[in-house]
Amino acid sequence: EPSDPDLVARARAAKEALGDRVFVLGHHYQRDEVIEFTDTTGDSFKLAKEAAARPDAPYIVFCGVHFMAESADILTSDEQTVVLPDLAAGCSMADMAALHQVEDCWDDLVEAGVAESTVPVTYMNSSAAIKAFTGRNGGTVCTSSNAERALTWAFDEVGGVEGEGKVLFLPDQHLGRNTWARDLGRDLDDCVVWNPHQPMGGLTLEEIRDARMILWRGHCSVHGRFTPEAVETSRREIPGVKVIVHPECRNEVVELADEVGSTEKIITAVSSAPAGTKWVIGTELNLVQRLAKEHPEQQISFLEKNVCYCSTMNRIDLPHLVWALESLVEGRVVNPIVVDENVADQARTALDRMLALP
Ligand code: 13P
Ligand code: SF4
Repeated sequence: EPSDPDLVARARAAKEALGDRVFVLGHHYQRDEVIEFTDTTGDSFKLAKEAAARPDAPYIVFCGVHFMAESADILTSDEQTVVLPDLAAGCSMADMAALHQVEDCWDDLVEAGVAESTVPVTYMNSSAAIKAFTGRNGGTVCTSSNAERALTWAFDEVGGVEGEGKVLFLPDQHLGRNTWARDLGRDLDDCVVWNPHQPMGGLTLEEIRDARMILWRGHCSVHGRFTPEAVETSRREIPGVKVIVHPECRNEVVELADEVGSTEKIITAVSSAPAGTKWVIGTELNLVQRLAKEHPEQQISFLEKNVCYCSTMNRIDLPHLVWALESLVEGRVVNPIVVDENVADQARTALDRMLALP
């Protein structure tokens, strides 16, 4: 539905009044009404880099979810303020790994005698505290666009992918499993799932010692809903269709897809395809609908009818953005995201390792 014209005018006026003092970033899952007022859009990797590349903007307004705004705060200078227009824009996956649970897991790995040969790798979709844990234990952050390189780097730290070292992958079991199996071509049997609600993750000592990938039991509530049956139905109903999905989807779904990638990669694939290409896309609905609107020359549909928007991404709407921007015009900062200095330092170590990946 079209945005309220009054709010559109107010957003425009506030942005104009702030000029270069504000830089507005938007993740690809944001609503159209928000995307309209962003200075740049991207996947989580691109947005982290872009936030860091704007040292002259005193205000960074982050239209995305909490962990992205935290990462932006960590990567920008102390003089810059990062604003999240609605503090309730969290991420259910990031919430699945609490620091005390991950510390307990690490203690168990120490006790099992495997911590020394284990490198933690945390997906960007995690709290700053988990990134800090990863940084102080020799690990790296990764996103969906560099997970293969991050895993390769991590295994190289403990004797290589072919060796016997391990990765503790947090918090998305699916991205971890998919990267191991699909990108590195390794055996699914080398993966175990660590259940933080059970003693020793619900695993035996032998299972822990034999595993190469210890996958945290986290998942995305949106991407977890896509099914292999939906891929099969699409192939039956749309002959010649190309199925492209995000790596947060379950392995059975990813195995059946033609292409797998980050939101940025999905956009690039669709934008560069010849007219008349038939796509079925398995990722968040705002992005799929926008792609369909922007590419009428292609036939674009959504992978599954009963999957919906990411409800937390959707919390950032035009009224919240206008409120955040107008407050800045009035010299008030609402919803600043400030990561504790100590946590930020250790998290930055893990983020910098990611930014330095070859
Ligand atoms: P991207 O880094 O691919 O944009 O993914 C972020 C995300 O939250 C996907 O659910
Ligand atoms: Fe988190 Fe999933 Fe939403 Fe991405 S789509 S922000 S992983 S809940």
